[in-house]
Amino acid sequence: MAGTPAATPHSMAQYYRQRAACYERVYAKPERQADLRAMEAWLPGLFAGRRVLEIATGTGWWTPHGAAQAAHWRATDLNPETLAVARAKPAMPAGVQFQTVDAYTLAELGDDTFDAAYAGCWWSHVPLARLPAWLDTLHARLAPGAVVVMLDNRFVPTSSTPITRSDADGNTYQLRPLDDGSTHEVLKNFPTPDQAVAALGPRARDAQWVDWTHYWALVYTLS
Ligand SMILES: C[S@@+](CC[C@H](N)C(=O)[O-])C[C@H]1O[C@@H](n2cnc3c(N)ncnc32)[C@H](O)[C@@H]1O
Repeated sequence: MAGTPAATPHSMAQYYRQRAACYERVYAKPERQADLRAMEAWLPGLFAGRRVLEIATGTGWWTPHGAAQAAHWRATDLNPETLAVARAKPAMPAGVQFQTVDAYTLAELGDDTFDAAYAGCWWSHVPLARLPAWLDTLHARLAPGAVVVMLDNRFVPTSSTPITRSDADGNTYQLRPLDDGSTHEVLKNFPTPDQAVAALGPRARDAQWVDWTHYWALVYTLS
């Protein structure tokens, strides 16, 4: 929409803060229900017995599923407003702990390290030029042998918000409305498997790409 400010990491964090109360409407889309049930069943076993760092938890849609068999699950997000929705959910496993953390620095974690990581619908919001540094920051928190799971949206023309522009780096953008009538530009990338695997860096091993109709996941281990 003419006059909508260009997306920045700051504006996108603000957008998700404003959207927190109605965010989970996106998980009510009828055409995505079969994928969601399959993914909810697939996720728990990947983290069995592990100490997991969840990046950009949001309202915690994935958290009860991912954390179901984990030894510990640190659910983090920059926005206390989205974490407040997650905290209020009655069905969180006992090992879940919430923390306000900036994904780009992870500074709030202090010296804490983990042996697994999970990020749902976060990769797509990281500007391509920041992906290598962000992955390095994440991997530095993870022990050798750690399992990493990235899960995100595939672009499906009949279900996804249209792409409105791309930039010189190859990032793509959408315009999204909120209930208050405001419109927000959001950076939202849809990587190919080759593009995503190529970004992982030298410690990544055994990368496996999984496709559902509306989502993708990338699972790998760290050396
Ligand atoms: C698309 S939502 C994903 C939420 C959840 N993981 C899911 O899949 O439903 C993106 C999340 O990133 C959070 N976020 C934005 N900037 C962030 C940052 N710099 N560090 C951590 N979280 C951030 C937002 O608050 C929002 O909850």
